[in-house]
Amino acid sequence: MRSYTIQSAISSNLHFRKSGEGPVVMLLHGFPSNGQLWEDTGNRLSSRFTVIIPDIPGSGSSTLDKEDVSLEDMAHALKEICVSAGIEKLVVVGHSMGGYISLAFHELFPDLVAGLSLVHSSASADNDEKKETRRKSIRLIENGGKRPFVEQMIPALFDEGFARENPGLVKRQIAEGMQLSERSMVAFYKAMINRPDRTSNLPGATIPVQWIIGESDKVIPVSTAMEQCQLASVNFVSVYQNTGHMSMLEKPDTLYGDLEKFIEHCF
Ligand code: MLT
Repeated sequence: MRSYTIQSAISSNLHFRKSGEGPVVMLLHGFPSNGQLWEDTGNRLSSRFTVIIPDIPGSGSSTLDKEDVSLEDMAHALKEICVSAGIEKLVVVGHSMGGYISLAFHELFPDLVAGLSLVHSSASADNDEKKETRRKSIRLIENGGKRPFVEQMIPALFDEGFARENPGLVKRQIAEGMQLSERSMVAFYKAMINRPDRTSNLPGATIPVQWIIGESDKVIPVSTAMEQCQLASVNFVSVYQNTGHMSMLEKPDTLYGDLEKFIEHCF
């Protein structure tokens, strides 16, 4: 994959990877991660499609130049990538927080979007309990507790059996998570707390929506995803057994196949 850096309003160094040819798909990572998470899937997809993998502003090699950033600000930054790469239509695949951003992107730039794939993500806002949990985490991170926060959070993203059998992979994700600065962590958590509910956008959506759901996902429980996955008029729904929140690592072949089918359908 080749690396590119452009400027946007919130990121003077906005980094993305690009490879392949043909219809365009953008793979958005979640929290606390960076574009690296999607590299294996992206490499495989790039034999059939043009694949763009950004580091969301504040992650990986992308800077975040604004305090109090919103998910809409992030969506505007992604639009700058589309402009610089001459993209007029794309499928956006968003993992978790990346999915929240892709929903904001679709709301702001509907004409650009050919399909939306929500990988362990949701269109609803945080409830009060979730907001309070995030505020506690923000206090912990601001008081020097990034490591305990990451070391507790990351293993819980995986199916328990998978985490037990793949300790090296979980450790690698902890190391990736630790690369995210305290400032970015706090900014992302605040942006997620403030995001609006977008479930009401789904019934009117004229694009296909894909739902990848992990049976043992503790961040986006099956029940939450099931309530939403029939709201749009065309839904591709897959529920993975023995899978948590990280199917690109837990079930890479199955996820690749489902993404390929969905992207083909969208174009
Ligand atoms: C993510 O994976 O992006 C986050 O866990 C999402 C969240 O905290 O809601």
